[in-house]
Amino acid sequence: MPNVAVIGAQWGDEGKGKVVDWLASRADVVVRFQGGHNAGHTLVVGEQTYKLSLLPSGLVRGKLGIIGNGVVIDPEALLAEIDRVRAQGLAVGPDTLRIADNAPLILPLHAALDRAREAARGARQIGTTGRGIGPAYEDKVARRAIRIADLAEPDTLADKLDELLLHHNTLLRGLGAETFEKRDLLDRLLALAPQLLPFAEPVWERLDEARRAGRRILFEGAQAVMLDVDHGTYPFVTSSNTVAATAASGAGIGPAAVGFVLGIAKAYCTRVGAGPFPTELSDATGTLLGDRGREFGTVTGRRRRCGWFDAALVRQAVKVGGIQGLALTKLDVLDGLPELKIGVGYRLDGATVRRLPAAPRAQAAAEPVYETMEGWSGSTRGARSWADLPAQAVKYVRRIEELVEAPVTLLSTSPERDDTILMRDPFEG
Ligand code: GDP
Ligand code: IMO
Ligand code: MG
Repeated sequence: MPNVAVIGAQWGDEGKGKVVDWLASRADVVVRFQGGHNAGHTLVVGEQTYKLSLLPSGLVRGKLGIIGNGVVIDPEALLAEIDRVRAQGLAVGPDTLRIADNAPLILPLHAALDRAREAARGARQIGTTGRGIGPAYEDKVARRAIRIADLAEPDTLADKLDELLLHHNTLLRGLGAETFEKRDLLDRLLALAPQLLPFAEPVWERLDEARRAGRRILFEGAQAVMLDVDHGTYPFVTSSNTVAATAASGAGIGPAAVGFVLGIAKAYCTRVGAGPFPTELSDATGTLLGDRGREFGTVTGRRRRCGWFDAALVRQAVKVGGIQGLALTKLDVLDGLPELKIGVGYRLDGATVRRLPAAPRAQAAAEPVYETMEGWSGSTRGARSWADLPAQAVKYVRRIEELVEAPVTLLSTSPERDDTILMRDPFEG
């Protein structure tokens, strides 16, 4: 009875939230291990739609949620999100949510620096969410981050703010942005402390106990392999490792406890923000996919770029991300398209390769090589069993399995929680 890690296999927004919510019925604990409130996970349960950014999606099922040390936490965003979901009737309190006391905080100066840098990049913008994710991870690695546990030590906070402000105000001034005052930040943090500290604990201990008691742990990834700071389309990536290996270090548990790695991929492909996207469609089919799939960013509200399923890209994500099974979502969006294309490789310097190169110019120059398949005329929308799928849709799924070199173990056919087809239970290994 292994645990399960869910990670994105493309550029995010594959439907991780829906899949985690669905799988959470079989889990005891759900853990976020990287990213921050750049993530936007949408769950549709009957009449209710939940939009979660920092909170583990398992909370909707009443399962214990843990925010691991690998996550960067904007305390104000977290408290606002807790208020929002409480207003929707969810019980969120220190008994249902635990936060790693060694998780680093995102402060207002991080978001300010994120935005000032993006503005300075001009045409070379990354298209970040502007929420301070990159600068907060930089501070963690630079050993100047303020962490949750520091909130209990006002003197530590004051000292750390001196170091942080020396660094950030220098940069902000240089970029022509507004600087920050120590007193304001300190007052803000001290006011937040009593609201946050009741959630804080060494979560590694609780996870260790859960593991030893045979409880099922579900690790919920944010972003996706192609946004991973090492393995993605650098520099058009986020600032954390999104691969399944991070579930261990980002939660405080050994790698063997991570268990089965379920990768989530859309039956086509989308991307928010800038950067290479070989199979992108800038024609009417791209618009159709965006309209049908309601491809608007949960966090940014920006229209997502859309394109054909890129099997070479997902195969690469399977290999570097350690994906053992794939959940294919949004198959319904392809209903009725007369013809479908699948990217099977890239044309580069006269040769065909099955991996995206690392150098930015080569990435941008990679021309997709396509395989064309007939579409299906029936509907897959809302299908809950394999037998309900049109034969041609089954063929499409089977071809994807061959090309990405991983079995499709779960299919999603609408935003609704229960419109899901399970082929193999990831908790059974
Ligand atoms: P995440 O970031 O990976 O959790 O994905 P998002 O929630 O940002 O984006 C996925 C969107 O697709 C959400 O609006 C979901 O409600 C929706 N969705 C998930 N699965 C399906 C599906 O199988 N079909 C359709 N049509 N929509 C889906
Ligand atoms: P979920 O968990 C899609 C993208 C941003 C930008 C890049 C860097 O919902 O799949 P950042 O603010 O992280 O420094 O931005 O990463 N990005 C996402 N795209 N889904 C996400 O999360 C994303 N989180 C960040 O658009 O291109
Ligand atoms: Mg999302």
